[in-house]
Amino acid sequence: MATKPWFPTYVYEAPLQGRGNQDFTRALLDECHKVREGDSAGQLWCQENYPAGYTSYGTLRQLHRALPMFADLERKIWRHVPRFARRLDMDLREASLVMTDCWVNIMSRDAVHPLHLHPGAIFSGTFYVRTPPGCSGIHFEDPRLEKFVCIPPRFPDCRPANRQQVTYGVEAGKVILFESWLRHGVVSSPTHDERVSVSFNYAWV
Ligand SMILES: [Fe+2]
Repeated sequence: MATKPWFPTYVYEAPLQGRGNQDFTRALLDECHKVREGDSAGQLWCQENYPAGYTSYGTLRQLHRALPMFADLERKIWRHVPRFARRLDMDLREASLVMTDCWVNIMSRDAVHPLHLHPGAIFSGTFYVRTPPGCSGIHFEDPRLEKFVCIPPRFPDCRPANRQQVTYGVEAGKVILFESWLRHGVVSSPTHDERVSVSFNYAWV
């Protein structure tokens, strides 16, 4: 066939580690709760900026440099980053990828994370710490949507690569990586239990 796909968009998903993943994730959940409890400035920030949820993004954005559990998480996530870079055929010999930001997100039922991207970073991602059954996944949007001046709808059963949006179901213990220009978001969860995750950025320095 003469038609070939070009300019694909990649999303990486994998268990954080093969052994001890459940124990590590459970221990990290305690740490996430401690971060929230100790971050009164962040709780105030969230009243204005993150209704029905808590994020340390506004106050404690470099947890991997402040707390041992998050430093350990950084080391574990790093095993995945070169794999993703290789899949994208990125030449990183001239500089290094460094985790620049790492923050906690705790979403209750009505919390929403609107569509956004992470300017200034190369890779972004999330490690899932607690995912109540039925909680919202992470939603990605075709980065070319804004250029679609006129395009017919796709068939409901179109090939996955031709979809204009996709939602990844999330699972505690798994890490998701994507390029930081890829617009993503989280809709409100229908569950009462809290959905807990740790998000991060990698920059090229
Ligand atoms: Fe994000």
